Amino acid sequence: MLGEEPLWCPFGVEQYNIRLTQGTPPNRLEAHMSQTRDHWSSNTGLVLAATGSAIGLGNLWKFPYITWVNDGGAFVLVYLICIAAVGLPIMMAELLIGRRSQKSAVGALKDAAGPAWGLIGGWGVTAGFILLSYYTVIAGWSLFYFAKTVSWTFGSFPEGMVAGDLFNDQVSSAPLQLGLSLAFSAATIGVVYFGVSKGIERVARVFLPILFGILILMLISALGMSGSGEALTFIFRPNFTELEPSSVLEAVGHSFFTLSLGMGAMITYGSYISRKQSVVKASGAIVALDTIIALFATIIMFSVIFSVTGMQQQVDAGEVGAVGMLFVALPELFYTQVPFGVVLGPLFYVLVALAALTSTISLLEVVTSYLIDERGLGRHKATIVSGVAIFVFTIFAALSFTGTPFFSTLEVFQGKAGWFSTADHFVSNWMLPIGGLGITIAVGWFMTRKASESELVDGTEPKWFNYGVWRFFVRFIAPAAVLAIILFVILGRDFS
Ligand code: PHE
Repeated sequence: MLGEEPLWCPFGVEQYNIRLTQGTPPNRLEAHMSQTRDHWSSNTGLVLAATGSAIGLGNLWKFPYITWVNDGGAFVLVYLICIAAVGLPIMMAELLIGRRSQKSAVGALKDAAGPAWGLIGGWGVTAGFILLSYYTVIAGWSLFYFAKTVSWTFGSFPEGMVAGDLFNDQVSSAPLQLGLSLAFSAATIGVVYFGVSKGIERVARVFLPILFGILILMLISALGMSGSGEALTFIFRPNFTELEPSSVLEAVGHSFFTLSLGMGAMITYGSYISRKQSVVKASGAIVALDTIIALFATIIMFSVIFSVTGMQQQVDAGEVGAVGMLFVALPELFYTQVPFGVVLGPLFYVLVALAALTSTISLLEVVTSYLIDERGLGRHKATIVSGVAIFVFTIFAALSFTGTPFFSTLEVFQGKAGWFSTADHFVSNWMLPIGGLGITIAVGWFMTRKASESELVDGTEPKWFNYGVWRFFVRFIAPAAVLAIILFVILGRDFS
């Protein structure tokens, strides 16, 4: 019993005793499962995989756009504060319950806060399912633009092409949309099929450095453009008179999306951390990298916008929306404005595709690991079952803009046509905030202090970390901020 050496225990006597005092004695089966569970091979592996999940369309597509709409400067500053005050503490909370339980979202929340909290885990798994169903469609567009830009680089850029028409033609072609989504889903399933260290981590180790490299090249090129000074001023000079209260909430909401929080992705990735790896250090690195990449992407895009006459007005007039910046304005500009654009164009869409793939694999892993841990399926079967089930909904999302009856006309939320917009509305406004609120309450209020402290303060933590400060943010600041989002959504604000 307590103090006595267990016959066999994968996490050391000390942890064994902590578990005993908290009433979760690890039996041999549990111990065995923990031992055989696939793990990240090192801290770098974890950081790269989790950063890969965090960096995605949220950084390259959504963040630049909401920064533009919210007039830059002050919004960016508020966003940085939200990332530090809400995102970072919740990142640690998610990773820590994953590492502690060595179980994915449902099991981890049950272990941390009690059986009823498994529902929040289930909510997260559902969010992952729905989010992946339409995220794949946008990811598929990057494949289309990659193919297009390659053909322009090696052939020639079609003079007089109307970029908006090209975009509309591709989203309204049902066979093309289905083909692109199928290709992207297959790639996602292919990676998750091989598991954590041989699939997800391997891909992250190769792709993330490529992604960083491409982004740095693009940044250098963008900073050489005439509009870069204006872009930097727009992004970094705060003007608080322009800031509206709902922008603050938009920043909180986006910090969830961009850091892959509120739906169990980081809990799941946390469950593959071994005891030697620090949750605090990893969280700091993931959050910092994600933020830097979002800022780089914004600098790149705004430098282009400010360098091209008339572009700013087009964006302001709404002719170039969130999707438009990435898929309408940029492709053409690479061939008309950007230095070395013929090379950077295709590279940029490789970047978008890689960033999206490292995010889609984390979404699929949430659902797959649920089937493995809670439903007893083997990895291969679980991957195929979840991947195919999600793809059925991807078909709905892919056909949302094709004019196909039902698929394009289905309307659940007012004015949101098709599964694509409906799902995006539901996930951004309801699923991630409610999931995030549940996770902070579970970890801040229902998990014992001793339990969370023993995970964060275990000798692996860096010097700057203060447990009391973290606990305060998880118990009070983060839930209050998320609750405010939910209230605004109830009052009719749309954050999707
Ligand atoms: N963080 C990803 C992005 O910025 C999106 C995502 C959300 C991925 C939740 C996984 C889980 O695009």
